[in-house]
Amino acid sequence: MHSFGYRANAVVSFAIIILGMMCAMTSLSDNFNFPSPTADVKVLNINWFQKQPNGNDEVSLTMNISADLSSLFTWNTKQVSLWDGIIQSKEHAKFWSHTTNKYHFTDQGNNLRGKDYNLTLHWHIMPKTGKMFADKIVMTGYSLSENYK
Ligand SMILES: *[C@@H]1O[C@H](CO)[C@@H](O)[C@H](O)[C@H]1NC(C)=O
Ligand SMILES: *[C@@H]1O[C@H](CO)[C@@H](O)[C@H](O)[C@H]1NC(C)=O
Repeated sequence: MHSFGYRANAVVSFAIIILGMMCAMTSLSDNFNFPSPTADVKVLNINWFQKQPNGNDEVSLTMNISADLSSLFTWNTKQVSLWDGIIQSKEHAKFWSHTTNKYHFTDQGNNLRGKDYNLTLHWHIMPKTGKMFADKIVMTGYSLSENYK
């Protein structure tokens, strides 16, 4: 006959093994989730586009960034962070933001006139269990004018 102590110990180890398996399954099942986040950035205004005194081109843009990152949220997602923001729930993962780029785009040199550019939305996903990972959406087809403004 087993002592009470021995049984309690067996119950505890069993619980730990189940927990370990659940974590492994959670991380695994996340790999089978193919999220389809969408994002769109409209450049509403070029606030200025000029050559700095040091000769480098500088651009300040006002953008409307809209995104639907709700498909990134699974039951194993703790939070999604992007730029300097953190989204903690699926309900807040669909948003738009009217914003001016905080850190101005600059170029080493003065070669930005008439150039095409892409805007990339980066984010990190922090799961409840498993490894943190990063992803991004690249938006193409933007271009700068031939003249400074
Ligand atoms: C930004 O884009 C969203 C989604 O397209 C739209 O609903 C919103 O009115 C836009 N905001 C501005 C300030 O243009
Ligand atoms: C923008 O992204 C597209 C697709 O990834 C790429 O072919 C193109 O060269 C990029 N343009 C610039 C200016 O980086």
